[in-house]
Amino acid sequence: MDLYDLLMKRRSVRNFKDKPIPEDIIEKLIDAANNAPSGGNLQPVSIIIVQKAESRIKLAEINEDQPWVKKAPLSMIFCIDFHRIKKWASLFNTEFKGENALAHFLIAYADLMCAAQNVATLAESCGLGSVYIGTIQSSLDEAREYFKIPQYVLPMMALSIGYPKSIPAGIPKLKRNVITHREKYAELNNDEIRKAFEDKYGDFDENANRYLEKAYIEVVEADKLHDKNWVEQAKKEMKKLEIKNNAQFLFKVRYPSEAMIKLNETIINSIKNAGFNFFN
Ligand SMILES: Cc1cc2nc3c(=O)[nH]c(=O)nc-3n(C[C@H](O)[C@H](O)[C@H](O)COP(=O)(O)O)c2cc1C
Repeated sequence: MDLYDLLMKRRSVRNFKDKPIPEDIIEKLIDAANNAPSGGNLQPVSIIIVQKAESRIKLAEINEDQPWVKKAPLSMIFCIDFHRIKKWASLFNTEFKGENALAHFLIAYADLMCAAQNVATLAESCGLGSVYIGTIQSSLDEAREYFKIPQYVLPMMALSIGYPKSIPAGIPKLKRNVITHREKYAELNNDEIRKAFEDKYGDFDENANRYLEKAYIEVVEADKLHDKNWVEQAKKEMKKLEIKNNAQFLFKVRYPSEAMIKLNETIINSIKNAGFNFFN
C-alpha cells in the first residue's frame, strides 16, 4: 500500500487484541520516534514504555479510566525532557535554561508530536493500531509521581498501541478546501462555515445512538468494551442540556468551555511543579 493510502485508511483504534507486540517491532517504533525531525536537533524527548499490567492499570486510571489504555499491550508516554540536556550542559560548563523559555517549550512539544506521529504511522504500516491519549496533560503530577519522572521532564502525550480487534469504519472530517488557504488566509463567511460543519457532521441526528456512533466514536467504543454505559450517560447529558445541534454537543457536553478553562490552574501548577516557569 502506498503511504497516501495508508494515511487515508488510518483511524484511531481503541479495541485491541490481547496479543503482545514483538520486541523487534517495539525497537523499530522507538527508532522511528528517535529519527523524527527535532528543532535544532536538540532531541528533548524521552519515551516511557508501558507494558506491565500494573502500569497499564495506573496509566488508565490517571487518564479518566479510558478502557483502551488498560487493554492496549503497549503504551508509550512521550515526555518533554529538559533534564538530560540541562545535565549535559552543566557537565560542560554551560547552562541550558529551556525550562524558563516558552520558545524551547513550544519547539520541544512540536518535536514530541513529530516523534509520536512517526510511531503512529510506522505502527499502522506494521498492522498495528494506535490512539493518542491527551488527557495525561491534566494529570501531569500523578503521571510524574507514578512513573518516577524527575524535574524538568513533562509527560505531555501518551500513545496506546496494539493489534486491532476492530477499526472504526469512518469518522467525519472537514473537506480539503475548508482547511486550505492558497497564499493568503481566506476567511469563510457565515454560510460557508455553516456548510463546512454540516458537510462534516451531517444534520444533527435526534437519534442519539446514531449520532454518537457518527460523531463521538469513543463512547461507542467504550460501550463495546463493556466497561461503562457511556452511551446512556452521554444521552442523558444531551437531554438534560437540551442539545439541539453539533456545535452545542461539542462545547456543552464534550468539551464544556467553563470546564476546559478551569483546567488551566491544574495544568499550569503541574508544569510549575516540574520546574518549568515561562509564565511570567
Ligand atoms: C492530541 C490528541 C489527543 C487525543 N486524546 C485522546 C484521548 O485522550 N482519548 C481518545 O480516545 N482519543 C484521543 N485522541 C484521538 C482522537 O479522538 C481522534 O484522533 C479523533 O477522534 C479523530 O479520529 P481519527 O484519529 O480516527 O481520525 C486524541 C488525538 C489527538 C491528536
